[in-house]
Amino acid sequence: MGTARRCAIIENVIIDPQSIPAPVAYRVLTGAIIPRPIGFISSISTAGDVNLAPFSFFNAVCAEPPMVMFATTNRDPAKDTLVNVTETGDFVVNIVSREIAEKMNLTAGDYPRGANEFAIAGLTAVPGDLVRPPRVLESPVNMECKVRQIIQVSSKPWGGHLILGEVVRFHVRDSIIDGDLLIDSAMLDAIGRISGPSYSTIRDRFDMIRPAIDLANLKPAK
Ligand SMILES: Cc1cc2nc3c(=O)[nH]c(=O)nc-3n(C[C@H](O)[C@H](O)[C@H](O)COP(=O)(O)O)c2cc1C
Repeated sequence: MGTARRCAIIENVIIDPQSIPAPVAYRVLTGAIIPRPIGFISSISTAGDVNLAPFSFFNAVCAEPPMVMFATTNRDPAKDTLVNVTETGDFVVNIVSREIAEKMNLTAGDYPRGANEFAIAGLTAVPGDLVRPPRVLESPVNMECKVRQIIQVSSKPWGGHLILGEVVRFHVRDSIIDGDLLIDSAMLDAIGRISGPSYSTIRDRFDMIRPAIDLANLKPAK
């Protein structure tokens, strides 16, 4: 005989997106999907103006070839980053460490097109090797990327574009990577975005080994 188990019903708030305004849907999404990594994106306009802005709708996509994605929310006029990557076809992802968090935040202001956020935040622009936009010297990791696809996901005001880029060169600070190219997460000290003004660090970590499977009984092997 199996063991009887009492199952507590946990009440949920049911939210149908079409019944709430888009800013509230944004609040639910960004409140639940946390912490989000931050792609600090440098780009350049066809006129040669450099630009730097953070995007927390950002992640890795696959490794062969190494691909990353970030998404820009619609704005009128369009965000400089979207205009630049569309026009020039390349960008750099810079990883945000705790040390440069406040500087990253300074670049997120609503500056007019052409403003140089490197200068505004006091960050150093180093020329890219294989792409036109500069990378952020103070970031522990930079990824030079070529745009592979830009998808307009939705043209609505809170809609946006998904930008897929292939990493064509990594720059990793020597002191945080070992001979097997393993990056020390504590030394990287990357921050994540929670919601509103909240951010997290990754100092409180724990490890779990993935289970081996006992295929005959479809359960983790002892
Ligand atoms: C931590 C952080 C994460 C952000 N993530 C996004 C994002 O994922 N998508 C987006 O459109 N804007 C995001 N923003 C807002 C942009 O950084 C902001 O609109 C910026 O001014 C855009 O700059 P640009 O016009 O130079 O491209 C974020 C801001 C901060 C501070």
